[in-house]
Amino acid sequence: MSLGEVEKKVLEKIKPRREEYELLMNAYRRIEAIIYKILNKHGIEAEVTLQGSVAHDTWLSGERDLDVFVLFPKEWSIEDLRNKGFSILLEAAEEIGNYNIRYAEHPYVRVILDSVQADLVPAFKIDSPREIRTAVDRTPFHTQYVNEHLNEELRDHVRLFKRFLKGLGIYGAEVRVRGFSGYLSELLIIKYGSFPKIISEASKWKAPVFIDTVGNTRIFKVLRRKYPESIMYVPDPVDPLRNVAAAVSLYSLATLVIASNCYRVNPCIEYYYPSLGSLDIDFSFIDGRCLVLVTVESDEFSRLPPDVLWGELHRVTDRAVKLAERFGFSVVDWSDWTDEGRIAVIGLEVDECSKEYPKLYQGPPYYSSKRVLDFISKHVFRGSIGPWIRRDGLLLALGPRKYVSIRDLLIDRSWEYMVAPHFRGLTPRVYVLGEDPLDILDLMDKDWVVGFVFKRRDWINCCIK
Ligand code: CTP
Ligand code: MG
Repeated sequence: MSLGEVEKKVLEKIKPRREEYELLMNAYRRIEAIIYKILNKHGIEAEVTLQGSVAHDTWLSGERDLDVFVLFPKEWSIEDLRNKGFSILLEAAEEIGNYNIRYAEHPYVRVILDSVQADLVPAFKIDSPREIRTAVDRTPFHTQYVNEHLNEELRDHVRLFKRFLKGLGIYGAEVRVRGFSGYLSELLIIKYGSFPKIISEASKWKAPVFIDTVGNTRIFKVLRRKYPESIMYVPDPVDPLRNVAAAVSLYSLATLVIASNCYRVNPCIEYYYPSLGSLDIDFSFIDGRCLVLVTVESDEFSRLPPDVLWGELHRVTDRAVKLAERFGFSVVDWSDWTDEGRIAVIGLEVDECSKEYPKLYQGPPYYSSKRVLDFISKHVFRGSIGPWIRRDGLLLALGPRKYVSIRDLLIDRSWEYMVAPHFRGLTPRVYVLGEDPLDILDLMDKDWVVGFVFKRRDWINCCIK
């Protein structure tokens, strides 16, 4: 399928030019040389390789991230890789420039060299995907597969699709996003042959989505059992029992499906480049609503791998939503955010910040004689309104609420939702938008706050017939 005007315009912006390739390759060559020097010094035989979107030539202009994988002998133990392998990379990083240590399944090093960022990852040099021992050992096989299946035109379609997903906020498999990874984007382009074709296919998706990338539909039964929680199933062509789409959340899938439908009606640039909202716009938007920010601070946050921190935060948010529901607040929306440094925030929107109306207690059915008597005595002693038998035969009473205010509930019962290891025991602060001073917003990501308050994404405005 040929590309439309909008797509050509986007491509113009995201396709890297020659100077940018050179910048990246120069940085790579310097890094490569330094690592080989350190390897020689220690008499270790290993191979320095370039992987990921730069090796696939599917990276976007301006996003200068090198994935440098150093492949160590497969005879090494995993401990060797983590200790010996990692310390070699650390030594190299010290010579290359600014660096920091990061954690995924095992530690790696991120270095900054001029305007280029490089992840130095230790992995095993293996001959076949059957020998995979750590998650990163698959990566060189991905590079080989992708390069065998993409041509220059398809690479542009991958770039478009990645930019589209980024604009929608659903690009990346990390826990923060739980969306579509770069490799998944590439596999979908390989499968469907073009960006417009993916859009037209995705507009019809409904979970669970199965995409056959290996010409064997029997694999889905196995994947379904292995990944019972997944929303989407895409077997990895280099290791078919792994689901490349395991991270995709229902939110990400639903966003892609709706956006694809809208895009087909009216493609516009806002999908790729949402204009950033501003918090200065008038606050009449929050009139009559109840938007609450629950914040916690901890020095520990900066020491956690982002996936762990975001995973814990999502769990805490989930529990806060359930708590609010359990005490009679109707939760309209929720979201969370952290700077991955010292602050974490839960956003909750509920129907009313203060529930003045008493709680309606529903008694047992009229024919459960013993329980009926208990219900009546309990409420009479408590001083409830009623109990009474309503015209439809239900036994009811109106009694006081334990918590009238969402603020009191969230402060008093914080132990009920601060349930993740690094949140337990923290004391939250609760801010109600429109009631409390909002200096706190200065510490937060404006896009997140704007998204949480105003809700309508830019591209939704393009979604009108
Ligand atoms: N990878 C993977 N599964 C993930 C993340 C990464 O298998 N959840 C592997 C893939 O082989 C990927 C490589 O690690 O190609 C590099 O990952 P990353 O830098 O996250 O993705 P890129 O494909 O390089 O895309 P980009 O950096 O442009 O976002
Ligand atoms: Mg990358």
